Amino acid sequence: MKVYITRIIPEAGLQRLREAGHGYTLYEGDGELRPEALLEACSGHDALISAGPNKLNEAFFAGTKNLKAVSLLSAGFDNVDIAAANRHGVPIGHTPEVLNHAAADTAFLLMLAVSRNAFGNYRRILEGTWGFFRPTANLGQELHGKTLGIFGMGRIGSELGRLCKAAYGMQIIYHNRRRNVEVESALAAQYVSFDELLAQSDVISLHANLSDETRGLFNAAVFSKMKPGAIFINTARGPMHNEQDLIKALENEWIWGAGLDVTNPEPMSPDNPLLQMNRVCVLPHIGSATAEARDAMALRAADNIIAGLNGARIPFVINPEVYAAE
Ligand code: DGY
Repeated sequence: MKVYITRIIPEAGLQRLREAGHGYTLYEGDGELRPEALLEACSGHDALISAGPNKLNEAFFAGTKNLKAVSLLSAGFDNVDIAAANRHGVPIGHTPEVLNHAAADTAFLLMLAVSRNAFGNYRRILEGTWGFFRPTANLGQELHGKTLGIFGMGRIGSELGRLCKAAYGMQIIYHNRRRNVEVESALAAQYVSFDELLAQSDVISLHANLSDETRGLFNAAVFSKMKPGAIFINTARGPMHNEQDLIKALENEWIWGAGLDVTNPEPMSPDNPLLQMNRVCVLPHIGSATAEARDAMALRAADNIIAGLNGARIPFVINPEVYAAE
């Protein structure tokens, strides 16, 4: 059978598809694949691997009746309308877990970079303003013994907690929809209310899914409740923070700094004021961008598709209810 793939993905995943006897077409264009083009491309295929921001919504599922399986090449699935996928009986897979180390490392990297204003100091060199040594200038803050507040204690959040505890003996507090007793016992992590998380954290790192509850949640009111020395890290999804409010919070020193691997929109415009601010570090959504993670994600996406095309249950399915409805 034939699989449409919306990006060039690692060879490991393509080989896995070939070995299972499936053909594929890769979208190799430079720009985003437009919705109409995606619909048209899918019409000649039996399954889809979607990598990138294409919205898989009612119009998509209504227009692609022939698709037997879809897999995302991501852990996040906020670009899928799950109710629409269920209405049309399409199982959707994703690629969680194999990117936990890469994603947690990215949050750790940003946290450390912000704490020492690494990007701002690098800019001083490029701008020729390094100047002479001043013992009271360019002071960062240390992370040893500080409190890390994790918003969304899933697999990536717990991996970050593990790193921060091992590296800096940080206290771990978290807020989540459900208590995570495993992490509480492994990391002596403490479950707190959302307001307690804001009030007590020296670093707040977001690891929740983008949903109606989390969209725009980190706004002016929320930033104003954080510690003035706090560092805000978002490696989850850009729309979870309000960018204007974040700028206001940084300008008014309600918080100390911010590290972002995700923005809204993506790509961020090169003239975005955040890029010129001290104690702000922005990366271009590279959370899972290691060779190891991307190979494993491509394999996982291929395995999802192969199972779906065999009529078997997709191993990493995000809408298991689609099977119950059969
Ligand atoms: C994910 O897997 O959700 C990452 O953000 C990469 O898209």
